[in-house]
Formats: sequence, C-alpha cells, structure tokens
Amino acid sequence: MTGLDGKRIVIAGGATGIGAATAERLAADGAAVVVGDINLEGAQQTAERIVKAGGTASAVAFDLSDEASVQGLFDQAVTALGGVDGLYNVGADLSPSLVSNDVDLLGMDPAVWRRTFEVNLLGYALTCRSVIPLLLERGGGVIVNTSSGAVGAGEPTRPAYAASKAGVNALTRHIASRWGKEGIRCNAVAPGLVMTEGVRAANDERLEKYALSIARSPRLGLPGDLGNVVAFLFSDDAEWINGQVWAIDGGMSLHD
Ligand SMILES: NC(=O)c1ccc[n+]([C@@H]2O[C@H](COP(=O)([O-])OP(=O)(O)OC[C@H]3O[C@@H](n4cnc5c(N)ncnc54)[C@H](O)[C@@H]3O)[C@@H](O)[C@H]2O)c1
Repeated sequence: MTGLDGKRIVIAGGATGIGAATAERLAADGAAVVVGDINLEGAQQTAERIVKAGGTASAVAFDLSDEASVQGLFDQAVTALGGVDGLYNVGADLSPSLVSNDVDLLGMDPAVWRRTFEVNLLGYALTCRSVIPLLLERGGGVIVNTSSGAVGAGEPTRPAYAASKAGVNALTRHIASRWGKEGIRCNAVAPGLVMTEGVRAANDERLEKYALSIARSPRLGLPGDLGNVVAFLFSDDAEWINGQVWAIDGGMSLHD
C-alpha cells in the first residue's frame, strides 16, 4: 500500500479491540499515531507496544462525550505530530451496563439512548468537526468511521446502538459530500462479529454460533481483519473511494 509512511493519524478509541489492533497496523505501515481513549492505561499500552515494535505513538486521555476534551485530543495531537493527516473514529461505549439496558422500545430508558448517541454519534461528529479544519489546512486528508452491521440487521434489541451507527453512516456521507472536492475522503467500515477481548470475555456461545452460521466465510472476524481494510482506506491506493460504508463481516450481512 502506498502513502501510509509518515502519515499522522489520530485514533479515537484505541485502548482495546479493533482500535488497538488498527493503531498497531497503521504504525507498522509507517504512520505516526496518537492513540486517544477514555481508558488512558489501555491507550498507553497500545502506544507502548507500537513504540517497542519500532513505531511512533503516544497516548492521550479523552472522552468522546466531552466537547472540550475532544478538542484537547486534537490540540495534543498537533503538538505531538506537528499536524494531522487522518482520523480513525473507532471508540464506542460498549460497557455491559449500557448495552444490556439497550432493550426494545417499550422498555427503553431514555438515558441509555442519550449516552449511546452522545458517545457513538455526537462524539464522532465532534472529532470530525475538530479534524476537518486541520485536514483542509494541508489540502485534504482521510477520515474513517466505525459503523456496525447492526444498522441493517434489524435486531429485536440494541435499537439505540443500531440507530447511533446509522447516524455514523449519514455523518460519513455528509462529510464526503461537503468536503470531498477539497480533498477530504470520509468512509466507514461496518464490522460483523469481531472476536475482540471484549467479545471473548462476554463468552456468549449462542451469539458466536449464530454469527458463524450466518457468515459466508468459515470463521468469525478478528481485529486484524479491520486493521487491513482501514489501513487500505487510509492509503493513497484508496484515493478514489469516498462516502462509502463497507461491510467487513465475512458475508454476515448477506441473506438466503
Ligand atoms: N467487536 C465487534 O464485534 C463489533 C461489531 C460491530 C461494530 N463494532 C464497533 O467497532 C468499534 C470498536 O469496538 P471493539 O469491539 O473493538 O470494542 P472495544 O470496547 O474494545 O473498543 C471500544 C473503545 O472505545 C473506548 N471508549 C468507550 N467510551 C469512550 C469514550 N466516551 N471516549 C473515548 N473512548 C471511549 C473504549 O475504552 C475502548 O477502547 C466500536 O465502534 C464498535 O461499535 C464492533
């Protein structure tokens, strides 16, 4: 892949899971990364692994649900890297207490919807608002957002989560349309079930079995599967891809 060497990329949510794996992948391809997360210890561990492997990384504590803290992430990234060429939005509040209360509409708790939207959707809008002027300053750049297969799945639960990710798709297309001509590419990846530490810890055999049964590929996803695609989307090889939401799901979204 061309053009990743020396790119300065902010990872918004890189302490664990897909974000951590993708930060490591981007750094292995030569990008300098700032790993932001509400979990500072986790972000530091990601950055340490990258530096140990010979890459360039630092960690910043920030909260997607806090406007000032989001701006602070980019201020610190500019100080650390001298500018920003790309943003990977990957954080989401997946804490079991939130997700388990994201029940069907008749049982909904508005506080769960507010928190889910605040982190997963408004948080992405805020990071994009902070980064777009930085990208325009250098003649363009790349944003990759993280959506979910839940958008199209029509699950009987998790409506707030699915709706927040549907908003991420809309945000992605808006940015591509509004600033594409000025050199900004904005795309999203929509993972199927990916075996992160969090998913493994949940140890939901029924879910894993079901996901594997509907997948067209012979295995479930791994964080590195997303890293591969996100690295491509940040590379110059993806120069003519804009405003797209890609399902990275081993064919889980196909129907019989
Ligand atoms: N793993 C899957 O099967 C799967 C499937 C579809 C979509 N996704 C999406 O992929 C992304 C990564 O998920 P993951 O599975 O790696 O989970 P994860 O929990 O390992 O990663 C989410 C990260 O977001 C951070 N975060 C949470 N709240 C935050 C806040 N307020 N501010 C800043 N950071 C915050 C967490 O600390 C964590 O590091 C998420 O957007 C998720 O919705 C995951």
